[in-house]
Amino acid sequence: MPNFHTQTLKPLSYPCTYKETTFSYEAHSKRGNKLVMASMQGEHLLIRIHQKEDGNLLVKGDKVTRPTQASFLQKVLIDFRDVSEAKEIYSNIEPKNFLEVKHSPYLKEIDFFANHFDVKGEIWIEIGFGSGRHLLHQAKKNPHIQFIGLEIHKPSIEQVLKQCELQSIENILVVDYDARLFMEFLPSNVVGRIFVHFPVPWDKKPHRRVFSAAFIEEALRVLHVKGTLELRTDSPLYFEFTFAQMMQLSRADVHVKKNAELEITSKYEDRWRKMEKDIYDVILTNEVASEPISKPDTLHFDMDVDFRKIRDTFKDELLRGEGFFVHFEELFEIDEQSGLIRLSFGANERNEKCYIAIQKGQVSYLPDAILATKSNRAAHTLIKEWFHGICD
Ligand SMILES: C[S@@+](CC[C@H](N)C(=O)[O-])C[C@H]1O[C@@H](n2cnc3c(N)ncnc32)[C@H](O)[C@@H]1O
Repeated sequence: MPNFHTQTLKPLSYPCTYKETTFSYEAHSKRGNKLVMASMQGEHLLIRIHQKEDGNLLVKGDKVTRPTQASFLQKVLIDFRDVSEAKEIYSNIEPKNFLEVKHSPYLKEIDFFANHFDVKGEIWIEIGFGSGRHLLHQAKKNPHIQFIGLEIHKPSIEQVLKQCELQSIENILVVDYDARLFMEFLPSNVVGRIFVHFPVPWDKKPHRRVFSAAFIEEALRVLHVKGTLELRTDSPLYFEFTFAQMMQLSRADVHVKKNAELEITSKYEDRWRKMEKDIYDVILTNEVASEPISKPDTLHFDMDVDFRKIRDTFKDELLRGEGFFVHFEELFEIDEQSGLIRLSFGANERNEKCYIAIQKGQVSYLPDAILATKSNRAAHTLIKEWFHGICD
């Protein structure tokens, strides 16, 4: 994670632009933490400044708004260091080979799938592509197929984006999003294959696995007739769990293979093969066409609030509903009328971390694409009640 340590930072007068980065405002919390809103090439991110016990300042990107391409964050932090005339005590923000910073056309925000994705032909999906060996191989071999690669590990995403560019592979869209939520954005009956190769086994916490009854149902909905959901794993427990889930379906065409060879092996597979571990494939073929669905909305506020009232009553607070929670973590003040609340909310196993921005009475989420899943909607209602309780 790019960051630097410094003793001092020269105060900035906002807004200001330095080289490629614009700094719009800063916000302070009672705990002594500070946020600075920065933007570069249309990407907005928060810089977090943390007062350490030894008196030094730790400056890094805030996790909630961290861009997928680490090079963006590095560049913004370098501009911030230079405009604030910081003398680094420690730093890892100056990469050895600083590549030109630009958005990859293959990297898509979830907003793209919510509002602009146009299905033109067959789609194949790979979930948790890791080093991307399998995804890149399949995309090169099947140039007429549109691939969607889902991953939550940012260095893996960056690596695959680089390979797409170097090898001129144009039929992959990469998304930094939890695969368990992503399917909701796709229309029914449009996907030919879904690969899930060597997912994290979570043998002690099976509820964290990508596979669940709900996930399989959603996968079947997006698959067209004869489309396949393909698990490849070295974990006998994962294999048994998935097979049992598929057997719960009222109708299922499931094929199982042991130690089948694929054209391409991933880094994980190479490691397990060296250790002579067994490898299991479970392939579920969809047999029925699904009903169309409407895309999930994103959550918004349609209310005005008085920031001063929020600021005066705010405390670190955890509220629970049935199967969901809202944790108001920290409040940051920009000025008398504006500030940010850092919070996490949603279902216990799939929570969102975000900010709520209050600027001149207007309330919005930051980042703004919070998906209206059932638990998120319930949490959103609780958040609105919390605002009303303070401001009405
Ligand atoms: C064990 S690695 C396997 C990577 C690759 N498929 C391979 O075979 O080498 C599992 C990958 O899944 C990703 N992952 C875990 N949970 C995920 C989720 N909910 N959505 C998308 N990707 C996920 C992890 O970041 C990790 O890169």
